[in-house]
Amino acid sequence: MKRTSMATDLDAANAGEIVILNGWVNTRRDHGGLIFIDLRDRSGIIQVVFSPEVNQEAFRLAEQVRSEYVVAVKGEVRHRPAETENPNLKTGKIEVYAEKMEVLNSAKTPPFYIEDHIDVDEILRLKYRYLDLRRPEMRENLMFRHRVIKSMRDYLDKKGFIEIETPILAKSTPEGARDYLVPSRVHPGEFFALPQSPQTFKQLLMVAGMEKYFQIARCFRDEDLRADRQPEFTQLDMEMSFVDEEDIMQLVEEMIALVLREAAGREIVTPFPRLTYDEAMARYGSDKPDLRFDLPIIELTELMRGVEFKVFSGAIEAGGVVRAINARGCASFARREIDELGQMAVENGAKGMAWIVVTENELKSPITKFFKPEQIERVLQAVEAQPGDLILFGADRADIVARVLGNLRLELARKLNLIDETRLDFTWVVDFPLLEWDDEEKRWSAVHHMFTSPRPADVPLLDENPGASKARAYDLVLNGTEIGGGSIRIHRKDVQQKMFSLLGMSLEEAKDKFGYMLDAFEYGTPPHGGIAFGIDRLVMILAGRHSIRDVIAFPKTQSASCPMTAAPSSVSGKQLRELAIKIREK
Ligand code: AMO
Ligand code: AMP
Repeated sequence: MKRTSMATDLDAANAGEIVILNGWVNTRRDHGGLIFIDLRDRSGIIQVVFSPEVNQEAFRLAEQVRSEYVVAVKGEVRHRPAETENPNLKTGKIEVYAEKMEVLNSAKTPPFYIEDHIDVDEILRLKYRYLDLRRPEMRENLMFRHRVIKSMRDYLDKKGFIEIETPILAKSTPEGARDYLVPSRVHPGEFFALPQSPQTFKQLLMVAGMEKYFQIARCFRDEDLRADRQPEFTQLDMEMSFVDEEDIMQLVEEMIALVLREAAGREIVTPFPRLTYDEAMARYGSDKPDLRFDLPIIELTELMRGVEFKVFSGAIEAGGVVRAINARGCASFARREIDELGQMAVENGAKGMAWIVVTENELKSPITKFFKPEQIERVLQAVEAQPGDLILFGADRADIVARVLGNLRLELARKLNLIDETRLDFTWVVDFPLLEWDDEEKRWSAVHHMFTSPRPADVPLLDENPGASKARAYDLVLNGTEIGGGSIRIHRKDVQQKMFSLLGMSLEEAKDKFGYMLDAFEYGTPPHGGIAFGIDRLVMILAGRHSIRDVIAFPKTQSASCPMTAAPSSVSGKQLRELAIKIREK
């Protein structure tokens, strides 16, 4: 009973053929005289009919099988009677009349229905992931992911890239998250680190003269998990020699357009828009702006300088800013709704959230009393207020106002249904600062990573005013999610050493951690740069899902564990002794 066709390969043109199908019993309906089984294989579903008039033995067996039994069925493809056709099924015009059936394996009743849109606790789905993946939407997600990756591979192969694997047992790499460590048995007390990305290896491949590298690379980061973060995830990782930002961005745009066409049947416009980091922060309050809707943040600092209202003028005197959002048509919000937005602002670090409700004949607001009428008039003009609008204000340090109004912008878009879920809005964010001041550690930290090159003209700033230097870095943002990031790298030893020291590393520490990089820079390192994409995130968005767990075969939970295998788990005393490890009491 070896399969002759996949379920959905069959259609009306096969009527009259004898076929053998292998698969699972999706559902079974007993109509007394006839039994219908929806047989499911990876391709989809086909209806099999069992009639005692066609074959007694097959009919009796069909009475006994249950959902998820594994069966082989032999039978004739027939047209369905017109009134029983099912337009929702690819095979809805036909059915197979069974002449023979074999039960290849029985099955217990699954803990949830094997169908789409089930409302089941995710932990249960993850515990029985092999059943969850039988559901059509999950199977489709994995097949789509395969097509995306295949299309990337094919494209890069055509462009002369070579795929090279880099170590998983590696040395701590500096992407800024905590490392997953692996103890060495051979070197007791010493540890490998799982790579947070292949960053240093891919740069060394450029030193090695490989010129164009890529890898579908597993990365490991021990950080707080969210819907778009997993402790292990997959990057499309790339690096090229003798290139600049434009070369990389162009190549990526061409690749993304092709991947979308091949894997998703969608056309997108290139080149993608570009925003500088400063523009993105000022106008959208985020370095990963969602451009599916506008709702911009408006600068009011100059207008508010020196006003009587101390909340605003005081923030400006302290070096901060005053900005606002015009929530169009939201004058009808109940006081409670405005207070909820204010509460959200406070949760994001604001000291308050001033507002003005604009109606046909009056303004309602807790702050207008502090202003002269002409000052209010100028503010309303600046935000282009119309009757029916609600204006929300933030006054504080620029980064706090950006965070507060950026999040209010997203919340308003959700509340007002401004987001068109069918859109794909890509944007590059460029001109990132190279460094940011880490107040806790009292030192600079790299915004992208420590191998990212400053703009050539900014190299002197590393001594004079490190915070002002810009990076040769670029992020790719899709619908408000960062799906990729990269940079042109430092390829000179002196600049790299300078960078290490700005990051608070002593010469010895730099040598100990990255001596191999510094050594390599002495042997003819070409100028080079690259980028890495979060494949899980890209596939998630293209598949219209809201969690990357839905596009990963065996993901971890929010608490970084696997309910199916129960990993992580304790190990035997013998294993620990071999590794010279002693567990402190929990
Ligand atoms: P970066 O750290 O920006 O850059 O990572 C690149 C992309 O990987 C995705 N990503 C994640 N996806 C799922 N779960 C996570 N925990 C996670 N962390 C990151 C994001 C991100 O844009 N070596 C550099 C790249 C380079 O400079 O070439 C790097 O790893 O989509
Ligand atoms: P107060 O004078 O502190 O009662 O504030 C008057 C109004 O300004 C209230 O609506 C506050 O929510 C608001 N407010 C206070 N601090 C800020 C701030 N930093 N940014 C924006 N609005 C503020």
